[in-house]
Amino acid sequence: MTNRLEIKNLKSFFFLDEGVVKAVNGVDITVGDQETIGVIGESGCGKSVMAQSILRLVQPPGEIVKGTAVLKRKDGTEVDIFSFEPNSADLRSIRGNDIAMVFQEPMTAFSPVYTIGHQISEMVALHTSLSRNEIREHVIRLLNRVGISNPAQRFDEYPHQLSGGMRQRAMIALALSCNPKIVLADEPTTALDVTIQAQILDLMKELQREEDMSIVYITHNMAVIAETVDRVYVMYLGQVVESTTTEELFANPLHPYTQRLVRSIPRPGQRVDKLEVISGTVPIPMDLSPQCGFFSRCPEAIAGQCNKMMPALTEKEEGHFVRCFLYSQETEQDDEWTNI
Ligand SMILES: Nc1ncnc2c1ncn2[C@@H]1O[C@H](COP(=O)(O)OP(=O)(O)OP(=O)(O)O)[C@@H](O)[C@H]1O
Ligand code: SF4
Ligand SMILES: [Mg+2]
Repeated sequence: MTNRLEIKNLKSFFFLDEGVVKAVNGVDITVGDQETIGVIGESGCGKSVMAQSILRLVQPPGEIVKGTAVLKRKDGTEVDIFSFEPNSADLRSIRGNDIAMVFQEPMTAFSPVYTIGHQISEMVALHTSLSRNEIREHVIRLLNRVGISNPAQRFDEYPHQLSGGMRQRAMIALALSCNPKIVLADEPTTALDVTIQAQILDLMKELQREEDMSIVYITHNMAVIAETVDRVYVMYLGQVVESTTTEELFANPLHPYTQRLVRSIPRPGQRVDKLEVISGTVPIPMDLSPQCGFFSRCPEAIAGQCNKMMPALTEKEEGHFVRCFLYSQETEQDDEWTNI
């Protein structure tokens, strides 16, 4: 038995007065034991809403309207996270013990009015039966482990007293404090300078090896993907448009969107001003018509087909999935949420 998370047909929508924003529109993602997964896509593709949905953190007017998130544990137990009530004890136990989240902005995770040590200790107290003193020792060890100097002193400091890099490390300590099996890291280093970014990524790699974890990196940084992850999901307009191993994705990108993403990262010796940029932006996923989501920006679009039907995600090579009519004529089946 191994740890495994299987997200199937996840749909998370925001019900606004102006209409329905289909932020995540039918996503399948599998996270295997000790795997490092990457989720990539431009701003607005639905990466964060997808990750927040897994832990049921999407707030009204947002709602998970469809899908399952089945967590299979090493001990053989199996639960669908979406079957629990948002504030239930079951869900609280999953957050922390099974799956933890590292947010882009640490202040989302920390309250400004309590010390760092107090907040990590509360998390540990919720999930273990250690005494107060044992918890303090555990947290100080953890702060030390994530590279925070003078951890005993930092324990009693407030979030605003720490630098951005330190806060990010403290948030990783918070996420790791209950030995989660899966860590969802949503742009964990974007706010940091390049040197600190590399340090944090190295640190997470090291902790992953030691602690037997899977990590899902959510990022728009292709370089992070290239260096860090085993398998990649490319998201566009709330859907997965391609997924395969990192090696295969860079060697043989199939989807016109992925091809452009791959060409947008600098190669050694290449001038940054010569990089390809993908013209246009990701549309707001509202009032969607049944067509390929990338149609409005796709140079290879086939008129009369790509703007009339939605391509299905199909397996082109073993383990290499793509959603594009250039590779398969299969179309996505409508469901009860298609026409709202
Ligand atoms: N609270 C909300 N209310 C309405 N729409 C929202 C809300 N949160 C997100 N959205 C919309 O859902 C879509 C997906 O947003 P999401 O934050 O998941 O994108 P992202 O891929 O994480 O982008 P970024 O790279 O900028 O973090 C966007 O169109 C966004 O405008
Ligand atoms: S389905 Fe058509 S519009 Fe969509 S990515 Fe493929 S070629 Fe481009
Ligand atoms: Mg985001």
